[in-house]
Amino acid sequence: MQLHKDCKRILYTKEQIAATVEALAERLNKDYAGKTVLMVCILKGASVFYCDLIRKLDFDVRLDFMSVSSYGNATASSGAVCIRKDLDISIKDMEVVVVEDIVDSGLTMSYLIDNLRARGPKSVNICTLMDKPSRRKAEVEVKYSGMEVPDAFVVGYGLDYAESYRNLPYIAELKEEMYK
Ligand code: IMP
Ligand code: MG
Repeated sequence: MQLHKDCKRILYTKEQIAATVEALAERLNKDYAGKTVLMVCILKGASVFYCDLIRKLDFDVRLDFMSVSSYGNATASSGAVCIRKDLDISIKDMEVVVVEDIVDSGLTMSYLIDNLRARGPKSVNICTLMDKPSRRKAEVEVKYSGMEVPDAFVVGYGLDYAESYRNLPYIAELKEEMYK
């Protein structure tokens, strides 16, 4: 696969991503064996990761979707979060895993986890494909994290810049001139 012209370099190939998804699924399968778990996909960025992940889980999996948007500029969030599409069902007394593409400042996840906790689930944990811990502004416990990424803006495998690049099969660093 040729590198997209707007990208600087590939950070993770599709083989490396597949191995990361496999490792996360193994941990979830161990921790949630015998349980019924609501896997919550955070649209749209996590959708590609989510579809790969849920097919590797062997406990009783239920699916639901949320869409949230954080206000801010194109490449950084401000902390004010709006729920655009909420869950279809009540999560009272359920085991919940929130599936996210990337935790950056942590503002989106910290808001969302507080919001979900207030609904009385048995547990809520975060499973993210990528984590940028160096950019954290809000404290948030990320129990399942696939890979730590450097402080760069990445696209592909579900992640976008201005709604483009979500379909790339790899994760790449976007050229700075594309967003600066
Ligand atoms: P946070 O609230 O700053 O943690 O931002 C989380 C959201 O910002 C993620 O769900 C992504 O949608 C988006 N985001 C953060 N970093 C990147 C990136 O490098 N590429 C694409 N989207 C990103
Ligand atoms: Mg997102």
